[in-house]
Amino acid sequence: MSRLIVISNRVSVPKAAGAAGAQGGLAVALNSALREHRGIWFGWSGQEVEEFTGHLDMQRNQGVTTATIDLEPQDIEEYYNGYANRTLWPLFHYRIDLTEYDRNFGEGYERVNARFADSVRPLIEPDDLVWVHDYHLLPLGSLLRAKGVKNRMGLFLHTPWPPTRLLVSLPFHERLVESMLAYNVIGFQTEEWLNSFLHYLEKEMGLPIGEDGHVEYQGRKILCKAFPIGIDFKEFTEGANSDEAKEAHDKLKASVRGRKMLIGVDRLDYSKGLGERFESFGRFLADNPEQASQVVLLQIAPPSRGDVASYQQIREDLERKTGHINGAYADVAFVPIRYVNRGYPRRQLAGFYRAAEVGLVTPLRDGMNLVAKEYIAAQDPEDPGVLILSQFAGSALQLKDALQVNPHSIEHVSETIKLALAMPLEERRRRHEALYDSVRDTDVVYWREEFVRALFGEEATPDTRESL
Ligand code: ADP
Ligand code: G6P
Repeated sequence: MSRLIVISNRVSVPKAAGAAGAQGGLAVALNSALREHRGIWFGWSGQEVEEFTGHLDMQRNQGVTTATIDLEPQDIEEYYNGYANRTLWPLFHYRIDLTEYDRNFGEGYERVNARFADSVRPLIEPDDLVWVHDYHLLPLGSLLRAKGVKNRMGLFLHTPWPPTRLLVSLPFHERLVESMLAYNVIGFQTEEWLNSFLHYLEKEMGLPIGEDGHVEYQGRKILCKAFPIGIDFKEFTEGANSDEAKEAHDKLKASVRGRKMLIGVDRLDYSKGLGERFESFGRFLADNPEQASQVVLLQIAPPSRGDVASYQQIREDLERKTGHINGAYADVAFVPIRYVNRGYPRRQLAGFYRAAEVGLVTPLRDGMNLVAKEYIAAQDPEDPGVLILSQFAGSALQLKDALQVNPHSIEHVSETIKLALAMPLEERRRRHEALYDSVRDTDVVYWREEFVRALFGEEATPDTRESL
């Protein structure tokens, strides 16, 4: 059976079951994939060291073998805070207004990708499958090829892929995209992002696209395909029925004293539409004064990428908006918005989701969004809550029975909150059943198996496929 070498920017293994974490969708999915597979997860430790040494720290943790390197301050600034999170992240989320183009960032990105290639190369054995993740490491495959790696290699992008008209604003976009064609498989979250990528290949590079999604480049065939990511359904639903979840649920329910609750759970990121969400909730309170003291919004938003100015700005903006709304509607024993900047253990989170009558998932742009799927999985099927979901989340293509909204329209979201809070039980059950089936059937196991199968490619015999 082939080993999996998983490579992502950050390696993030929970220290213990139930430990608090605000890891983002990538880490949650990879932890689950690696527990099932023999293999190694390689990446940055998240630690800073004065000068890069390339020292590999190997550990076994919660059933997963990890190999990490530390980066030096200039690497972190130019590669992680710079090209990854000041250039590619905003650009890939359609925010060219926030996108910074700085030559030093580009150089840092290439330097750190080369450091990743040097450090991981000795770990790769001939039969290993190499699976690279996300926008931090787009050129890594081509750097590994230059070092003689002949293994099957795949890339999965967890974010959106931007329309060609936006992407061409990136200096050296041709070089970046061309470097991606060193992989055998390139995976996207949805058909929408896949089609944007194929459009670029066709229009900017003149490459013909085969009907089955194969692209031919320099005599090699590359499979480009959508693999929508899911949650670890089994683990999450077990967690949602645990004592820890029940305790968290009961405590939270008792604290709102009969009021209805809406919940949001997001990294504190401008792509999540938190400002618009708060404004929509404020509008709902203003337009429905009879309900204003009967509804609470719990927003859990752990800080993310705090060294980047646009993240500092969104944080300030949200504090101002919360203060404004709470100032207008709070009473001595009640505040309408509970705004919490920390992570929670996953089981507690499941209890919180179940306690909320409405899940508010309103990103302005999101590759997939796992929170929407977690909210569905955590509900009591007899008395489920209602999911309000942005039409701009990748998950909207699957979760058709959610109440879908345009998060930019404050009025629309406010009216949808009203609708959700008043939805009769029968309709809630009907919608929830369909959503639940979709979340269960396309879970993280399905995603991983589909991707690894594609990565194995035509060379896999029926026997080797079985062993996946
Ligand atoms: P992204 O990957 O952009 O952060 P996703 O919605 O796809 O967005 O994934 C976020 C993941 O991080 C989910 O699994 C969610 O449960 C987890 N998460 C987000 N905020 C918290 C928090 N405060 N505590 C614990 N987990 C969190
Ligand atoms: C998103 C990205 C991931 C990233 C995560 C957390 O899910 O797609 O690649 O790991 O956010 O972001 P951070 O910058 O804290 O690693």
